[in-house]
Amino acid sequence: MSDRGEEDTVGFKVENRIATVWFNRPEKRNCMSPKLNRQMMRILEELEFREDVGVLVLTGEGTSWSAGMDLKEYFRENEHQGLHATRKAQREAYGWWERLRWYQKPTIAMINGWCFGGAYGPLFACDLAVAAEDAQFGLSEINWGILPGGGASKIITELTGFRRSMYHAMMGENLTGTQAAEWGLVNEAVPTDRLEARVTEIANVLLGKNAEALRGTKWAIRRVREMTYDNAEDYLVRAQEAAGFFDNEGRKEATRQFIDEKSFKPGLGSYDL
Ligand code: ACO
Repeated sequence: MSDRGEEDTVGFKVENRIATVWFNRPEKRNCMSPKLNRQMMRILEELEFREDVGVLVLTGEGTSWSAGMDLKEYFRENEHQGLHATRKAQREAYGWWERLRWYQKPTIAMINGWCFGGAYGPLFACDLAVAAEDAQFGLSEINWGILPGGGASKIITELTGFRRSMYHAMMGENLTGTQAAEWGLVNEAVPTDRLEARVTEIANVLLGKNAEALRGTKWAIRRVREMTYDNAEDYLVRAQEAAGFFDNEGRKEATRQFIDEKSFKPGLGSYDL
């Protein structure tokens, strides 16, 4: 299918409180066109506050997670129209990545195949990431004569160290899913036939946690990365208090189950919600 309609560029389903969203342009290796970017924002918005959604998983249809930005529809066609079109396309792409970085629900990237360039945006936007061992990760920008923009240079330095970032960005060589796990681009890599099961396992653990505490936790981890220790300490005190730490029903109930009822140990698992 060469002229997939905008609504068909992204698929999703909700099962057992897990929303699975997928890049749906397998014939174009799920590269991100303006149509896909607009549709992804709509789907994310639709799912974000749904009561029946507790965790969001982002994956790709076919052999690819996402082959990065669409060289034809995102770059070439917009450049022909002028700077205003390029800027609009950038806002659409960066917009949904940002939405995902600060999403209300925990998010997991399930990397089933190719993951290139611009796809590092949504990769980093997801809180957790699990890859198939034979997935392929690359900052291929250098291979076609541009620098890793759209946040990609920032992301590789956030996820890996200086030497690895330089090598990855300058050499244009791919990492397998296994190597990506060693380098810290993803949490872990598993055989392809175990990928979905492992991600579901993680999602189910998250579904068993206090949702408000999870949201505060994931936002705290993202925020403190760029703060000094003192600023982080201050932010965390305020975030804790803003979340009603001293008058938090979940915390009170968990304390009751541990101290009074002795029905669980926080060091060994979650309290009964
Ligand atoms: N932009 C536009 N079209 C793309 C992209 C892309 N990023 N990736 C794949 N396609 C298209 C191909 O042009 C081809 O279209 P066609 O059927 O109309 O000819 C179709 O998807 C299938 O691609 P193939 O190359 O035939 O698929 P194959 O499985 O052999 O290779 C691979 C997959 C390795 C992902 C290859 O398509 C590729 O190198 N893609 C580009 C990856 C890349 O560098 N992305 C840009 C990163 S930089 C950035 O995002 C800013």
